[in-house]
Amino acid sequence: MKNPFFSQSIISTQAFTKDSLNFFMPFCLQFKNHHSIPLLLKQKILASCFFEASTRTRLSFESACLRLGGQVLGFSDTAQLSVQKGESFSDTIRMMSEYADILVIRHPSAGAAQLATDISGKLIINAGDGANEHPTQALIDLFTIQESQGKIDGLHIAIAGDIIHARTIHALISTLTHFDVRIYFIVPELFELPENLSRLLRNANMRYSLHQQISEVISKLDILYLTRQQKERISKKPELKPYKHLNFSILSEAKSNFKILHPLPRQEELPAWVDATPHAHYFQQAANAVPVRQALLALMTQENI
Ligand code: NCD
Repeated sequence: MKNPFFSQSIISTQAFTKDSLNFFMPFCLQFKNHHSIPLLLKQKILASCFFEASTRTRLSFESACLRLGGQVLGFSDTAQLSVQKGESFSDTIRMMSEYADILVIRHPSAGAAQLATDISGKLIINAGDGANEHPTQALIDLFTIQESQGKIDGLHIAIAGDIIHARTIHALISTLTHFDVRIYFIVPELFELPENLSRLLRNANMRYSLHQQISEVISKLDILYLTRQQKERISKKPELKPYKHLNFSILSEAKSNFKILHPLPRQEELPAWVDATPHAHYFQQAANAVPVRQALLALMTQENI
């Protein structure tokens, strides 16, 4: 297959296909296992444009670029930018596009990365746009699921947390629609999935159900995907109570291959005692961010690698 990522911006998971995902995954493993990596980004500059807080996404992108021999410039908040003097997002992106070859953009507004592609002639990567999408986190999550279970088709996956506001959940669900997986949403009583998500699931003929307690499904699960409550996106009173169901007795019913994933940062939904259980897999997931982003940067910039 021809490299489907070459010269393409990464704005939404909707651009991924089963073929492109299957093409991508082996490169992640290759970058993960390679100790000496060719300097595929040698003449390239990556701009980290972070209008919103980040630890893993920004630093793993920067690490991925540096490990491939590229250079990095950018900002991790807007405090030192002319944004403080009222400069617009468009003008900021126009300028960054003169200074770099690839722009990694995180912004609190949905649609910001798409807007950047209309302004910039450079490759854009959406590193999270409001509550909308986080396509590269979905690639990390997919690779981590595949790596931890040896497959994706046939898996039983529970999703719990802030289903309304967590962009990582939106991006993951959209990516999982290309696979034959069974999804269990762990949600409060009377909760209905947002219409855009249920439409996505229906259109893809996905098998899914809503449950109030993880104990109802724990013994069937291969993966539990948790997120924190996205307090910064909740303007009024919390719409969803934080998920707080994990305990020793529930985990004792889990299958031996059962893994817990979380994009991090975590709050009360994922207590530190879980780290010592064989089910904790979120630090491996976070570590996978570097090889997955190396694979992506390499494939976006080289037709053949
Ligand atoms: C997530 C994000 O920023 O959407 N973190 C990440 O990128 N790994 C999750 C979150 O903030 O809850």
